[in-house]
Amino acid sequence: MPETPSNTASRVALIGFGTVGRAVARILCESGDPSLRLTHICNRNVEKKKQSWVPADVLWTDEVQSVLNSNVDIVIELIGGLNPAEQIVRDALQAGKSVVTANKQLIARHGPDLLQLAASRGCQLEFGASVAGGVPVLPALRTGLSGDRLHGIAGILNGTCNYILSRIESARIPFSEALEEAQARGYAEADASEDLDGGDARAKLAILALAGLHARVVPESVRARTIRTVDAVDFDYAAELGCTIRQISRADLKGDTLFADVGPCVVPTDSPFGRVHRNLNLVVTSGQYGGDMAFLGAGAGGDPTAVAVVSDVKFVAQRVGAGPSGGPSEIGSTKKDLGSKVATPTISSDFETPWYLRFFVRDRPGIVARLAQILASHHLNIDSLLQKPGFDKASLPFVITLEPCRDAQLHPALEEMSTLDFSIRPCLCLPILRQS
Ligand SMILES: NC(=O)c1ccc[n+]([C@@H]2O[C@H](COP(=O)([O-])OP(=O)(O)OC[C@H]3O[C@@H](n4cnc5c(N)ncnc54)[C@H](OP(=O)(O)O)[C@@H]3O)[C@@H](O)[C@H]2O)c1
Repeated sequence: MPETPSNTASRVALIGFGTVGRAVARILCESGDPSLRLTHICNRNVEKKKQSWVPADVLWTDEVQSVLNSNVDIVIELIGGLNPAEQIVRDALQAGKSVVTANKQLIARHGPDLLQLAASRGCQLEFGASVAGGVPVLPALRTGLSGDRLHGIAGILNGTCNYILSRIESARIPFSEALEEAQARGYAEADASEDLDGGDARAKLAILALAGLHARVVPESVRARTIRTVDAVDFDYAAELGCTIRQISRADLKGDTLFADVGPCVVPTDSPFGRVHRNLNLVVTSGQYGGDMAFLGAGAGGDPTAVAVVSDVKFVAQRVGAGPSGGPSEIGSTKKDLGSKVATPTISSDFETPWYLRFFVRDRPGIVARLAQILASHHLNIDSLLQKPGFDKASLPFVITLEPCRDAQLHPALEEMSTLDFSIRPCLCLPILRQS
C-alpha cells in the first residue's frame, strides 16, 4: 500500500502522457514515495489518455497554462520537440518551477540559456534522460565525475544506428534490409534520417559537451556522416583488421578547440565500442585524473527512460525540500554565471587518425598504382592493402588503410580520387579508432 504523501511533498505535474510520460506516471503512482505527489497530468485531447490506475486525486487537463498557474513545484516536460516545449519550459522556469525534461532537441539548442534562466529564478533544470535514455551518464557528470577535469567524451548514442550496424555485422545483410528490419521491430522510425545521418547523435553529443566539457556547441557545427554508405563487405574487411564498424560520436577538447565528429568508425572488435550490440548505448568519458569511465545500457524505451526522469525528479525534490540553500541544479548552480563557466570553443573535425578507404571499382590493371600515386602526392602513407578474392571484376571492392594523418590532409586526395573513371562508387572513408 503506497504511503500517503505528506503536506511537505513536492507537487509534480507531468506534461506529455506518451511512451515515456505514461511510464513515468506509473512509477510515480506505484513508488509510494512520500516526498513526491503527482498532482497533474496534462496532454492534448486528454480524455483519450485517462487511465484507471492513476489515483483519483490527480487532475487530468489539456490546459498547460492551468498547470503553470498552479502551485506545482516540479514540471516534467515529456511532449518532445521544440514547439511548444521550449515555451512551456521557459514559462515554468520563469514561474519559479523546477523542470525535468528528456527533450534532447530542446537542451541541445537552448540548454545554456535555459540553465541560466533556471539559475536566475532559483530553480532547477534537469535533463538526465535526454542523452542515452536510461543510462545515468549525465547524473554521473553532475556528481561522480565532477571532481575530474574531463577532456574527452565518446559514445554510441543512437540505438537505431547501432541496431542496424550490428545486424549487418552479424547477418551480413544489406543496409536496406537491416533498416527495414529495424523499422519492423520499432527500433527505427519510418523516416529515420535524423538517426541514420547523425542529426540525433550530434544533438546528444552537444549536450554531453555542455555537461561534461562545459562547452557550448551548436549541434549543426558538428560534422555528421551518414551510415547509409556502409556495406556488408565493409564488415568483412574490418574483420581482417580485427575490427568492426559502429556509429561513434566523439568530442575531444584541446585548448580552445573542440574536435568533434559523428559517424561510422572502424573500432576494434574487442574494444568497449566493438562489444556493444543491438540498440544499446555506451558512453566513455576521459578525464585528466580518473582516466576512462564507461556507461552502458538501454538508450531508449519507455521504462528505462522513465527511470532516468524519475531519478531527476527525486534529485530536484530533495533540493526543493532542502529549501533555499538547496539551490539550483549542479550544472545550473555551477554556472550561476554561465558566461564565465561555459566556453564557446572552435569546433573542428580535423582529427588525426589512421583511415579505412574502401573502393568499388571496375577492375583493370594499374588501379592500385594510380591510387598509390595520388596518395603519395599528398604525402599520405599506405599501411595495408586488402583485397578479398571471389568478387565480380565489374564491381570489385577493396580497401586501403592509411597511417595516421589529419582529416584536412586526406580530403584533397579523396577529391582527386573521386574523379577517377574506374571508380563506380564514391570511396567510403572511415576513421580507425584504435584507442577505445
Ligand atoms: N521514447 C524513448 O525511448 C525516449 C528516449 C529518450 C528520450 N525521449 C524523449 O522523451 C520525450 C517524450 O518522448 P515519447 O517517446 O514519450 O514521445 P510520445 O510517445 O510521442 O509522447 C508525447 C506525448 O506528448 C503529447 N503532446 C505532443 N504535443 C503536445 C502538445 N502540444 N500539448 C500537449 N500534449 C502534447 C502527445 O500527445 P498525442 O498522443 O496526442 O500525440 C503524446 O502523448 C521526447 O523529448 C523524446 O525525445 C524518448
